[in-house]
Amino acid sequence: MSSNKDLKIWIDGELVPKAEAKVSVYDHGLLYGDGVFEGIRLYNGKIFQPDAHMKRLYDSAKAIRLTIPITPDQLIAAINQTAKANSFTDCYVRAIVTRGPGYLGLNPNKCPKPVVIVITDLIELYPRETYEKGMAIITATVIRTHPNALSPRIKSLNYLNNILAKIEATDAGVNEALMLNGEGNVAECTADNIFIIQDGRVLTPTTSDGILEGITRAVIIELCAKLQIPCIEKTIQRHDLYIADECFLTGTGAEVVPVTKIDGRSIGNGTPGPITRRLSEAFHKFARGG
Ligand SMILES: Cc1ncc(COP(=O)(O)O)c(C=O)c1O
Repeated sequence: MSSNKDLKIWIDGELVPKAEAKVSVYDHGLLYGDGVFEGIRLYNGKIFQPDAHMKRLYDSAKAIRLTIPITPDQLIAAINQTAKANSFTDCYVRAIVTRGPGYLGLNPNKCPKPVVIVITDLIELYPRETYEKGMAIITATVIRTHPNALSPRIKSLNYLNNILAKIEATDAGVNEALMLNGEGNVAECTADNIFIIQDGRVLTPTTSDGILEGITRAVIIELCAKLQIPCIEKTIQRHDLYIADECFLTGTGAEVVPVTKIDGRSIGNGTPGPITRRLSEAFHKFARGG
């Protein structure tokens, strides 16, 4: 879903109409996927978890030795300015920093000026009924990026292996794919973190299992503590998923999505479970209020 509005996009300090929002074909973001980004939500006119998003973006940039030419406060101001220009109080925000235009070789030192972009728009990742009935996923053959190749903690513009996993999902007639890590343990889905519930305990893979440290994931872990639901970050095997009582995914775009089938096997009784529902409600209340 995208809004029909004549959207304004923020590029390097200027708001321009969507049709005129362009980058150079020499931008290394395009040529090599050299850059970082964030997916953020605006709820009731307020940026959700701004500090956590800024920290992850600036840490990702630091890890790839990219200096973002504006401060986190300036980027926050740019996001608010763009949302306001498009009259959004509730929307999805994409903040992108590319290495900028350079030459046709890899060397990032030849890209003198990174490009900063802010897009605000509407997004619907999964059909509405998914949240009521639950979603089926499959395990992809493509693994999550190995941390020794590129840390999955970096939210970079390189999503090609996740995209290949997503294609496996759509080929199988489902919306999302689980990606294992190099050891064969559960990592995460193509654009969401994964949680399971076993015997009343909420389990999710650890950072060292090779995942993006999701902002929604962190909020869910906090909400578990508030609601006194035991939540443990630990290595999970595919076997654990198959015998789990409940499963759900988390992400900025998706929020909390119940998973009721994995690789054709029903999870629990095949409907969204009580702890998933409780956490989903708590998340909505926390994010949207009321
Ligand atoms: C690979 C991957 N994992 C997990 C997530 C969920 O992270 P967050 O909750 O910060 O959106 C995303 C979404 O951006 C993602 O791309």
